[in-house]
Amino acid sequence: MRDLTIAIDGFSSTGKSTLAKLLAKELGYIHIDSGAMYRAITLYAIENGMLRGSEVNEFELIPQLDFLDIHFEFNPQTGKNEIYLNGENVEERIREMEVSSKVSIIAKVPEIRDYAVQMQRKLGEKSGIVMDGRDIGTTVFPNADLKIYLSASAEARAIRRYEELLKTEHPATYEEVFRNISERDLMDSTREVSPLKKAEDAVEVDNGQMTPQQTLETVLQIIRERFGA
Ligand code: CDP
Repeated sequence: MRDLTIAIDGFSSTGKSTLAKLLAKELGYIHIDSGAMYRAITLYAIENGMLRGSEVNEFELIPQLDFLDIHFEFNPQTGKNEIYLNGENVEERIREMEVSSKVSIIAKVPEIRDYAVQMQRKLGEKSGIVMDGRDIGTTVFPNADLKIYLSASAEARAIRRYEELLKTEHPATYEEVFRNISERDLMDSTREVSPLKKAEDAVEVDNGQMTPQQTLETVLQIIRERFGA
């Protein structure tokens, strides 16, 4: 089978990154978590006082984007491509609630989206890539070989994220997580630039009742049927 470009989109905590990571491992591809880029920019903005409440100081932040060093490095111990911001591994810090609660504010700024999409396209120049996010099949790689749109109920997704955070040093309550997920669902699907929506040619997979392994098997089956792997 030739190397494919696979786009995985969907709402928060539908298991996009989990699926993308398993798929990349199975196929020997690179996995890029596009949300991690928006999260890293959000962390930078918080740390440098450019985010107050729901206001972002675009005049200060946008000119600084060109000088940010955001890149991924594969960690063989976690089996994950981890994100670095100006030389520091911020993979864990970008998942904290403080970042989650602000990231959709950052992700709706058109200039920030342009910057991130440009980086994502560069990373996707070579095929053999699985990228997950909100607009991968619609904007970043409209010609992707395969587009998957993951869905699950807000409750199922909040439980997943809550359990994930329990394992970290910064847990949150179920209510906080549920509220955050619902707010981001709304912001991500109603923003003006590249809102989350299912690409016409995407295959929708509702994995609310599936384990990560079952989700992987479902998608591998689609790949076998389409590409004969
Ligand atoms: O992990 P989770 O699905 O909750 O979110 P994420 O993929 O880390 O993305 C965090 C946020 O970044 C989303 O809520 C979106 O606001 C934004 N995002 C986006 O706008 N476009 C993408 N391609 C990826 C993320």
